[in-house]
Amino acid sequence: MTVKILAIESSCDETAAAVVEDGRRVLSSVVHTQIAEHKQYGGVVPEIASRRHAEQIVGVVEKALADAGLTLKEVDAVGVTAAPGLIGALLVGVNFAKGLAFGAGKPLIPVNHLRGHVAANYIAHPQLEPPFLCLVVSGGHSHILQVKDYTDFQVIGRTRDDAAGESFDKVARSIGFDYPGGVNMDKVSGQGNPQAYQFPHPKVEGSPYDFSFSGLKTNVINLVHNAAQKGTPLDRVDLAASFGHSVATILCDHLFLAASDLGAKTIVVAGGVSANSQLRAMLEERCRSQGYALYLPPLSLCGDNAAMIGAQAYYEYLSGSRADLSLNAMATMPIESSFADFADMP
Ligand code: KG4
Ligand code: ZN
Repeated sequence: MTVKILAIESSCDETAAAVVEDGRRVLSSVVHTQIAEHKQYGGVVPEIASRRHAEQIVGVVEKALADAGLTLKEVDAVGVTAAPGLIGALLVGVNFAKGLAFGAGKPLIPVNHLRGHVAANYIAHPQLEPPFLCLVVSGGHSHILQVKDYTDFQVIGRTRDDAAGESFDKVARSIGFDYPGGVNMDKVSGQGNPQAYQFPHPKVEGSPYDFSFSGLKTNVINLVHNAAQKGTPLDRVDLAASFGHSVATILCDHLFLAASDLGAKTIVVAGGVSANSQLRAMLEERCRSQGYALYLPPLSLCGDNAAMIGAQAYYEYLSGSRADLSLNAMATMPIESSFADFADMP
């Protein structure tokens, strides 16, 4: 007996739905991105994101079912991203999923968005199974995780301030790259000199696996202001390459320190920033030279999508996780927590 899950994702600026079989086989995946619309504001505008989700969700879910050649009756459960993310955006997906699940008499499975990012790797790598060490780097989070089992996570390191993706986006804005800044800086980084500008490598006292990216960002912003005041030119392509190189180095230094200390054999990377070409190249080089098995999602599964939510929903389903009509969306939620921990909250 296979388990087919219809999954819905609306935590930020992508309205997405997918049907995934047994956590590994994607029968359909539809992503409607709002990037073009948020671009003019230089970042995601939460109110606009919520409205667009509300407009798009019916069509996106209908297309996911149609592409899979299934009706709602033929799926076994409905999975939905319920945390963390923009609260108004999450609520659109959660309420829609509730309606579908209870209307059709299907179990409703809440999914933590970050767990979903990790699960993107189960789709891409059929042989991958926990335990492994995982770096999750997105617009809102930078975590080093021990993934002990499909639904058992322990945070080993985290950012104390900006997330890696957020630092890319803020730096991009200060040196004149359009939103989404991380992607646009990455596109030119291959043409620049990654050693042209040197940035500090901030350490968090007493927490060797934790990250701090805000100092790095301030460094670039000061550089830009000083250059403007003195009238000296800055090479924004070299700056993009140097900044990308610094972020990749910091992420890798902490990750490989944790891997060595914890005796990890397998390293998995996930989240929007895992699409970064400098990070991918550095991970590949270091894993090859240090003998770790490395798993990265294909570029199509790095950013937000519902296939990854359907993959994780399957393992949450197997673990017995279910939600009822009281399910609420949460803007923040630790990746270690289960939704049952919050079930009685008002
Ligand atoms: O995981 P994601 O799609 O959404 C969140 O859950 O936040 O991550 C989005 C973040 C943005 O900050 C974006 O700039 C960054 O990932 N990102 C990149 C690249 N692609 C996406 N950062 C650097 N290089 C990239 N190629
Ligand atoms: Zn994400």
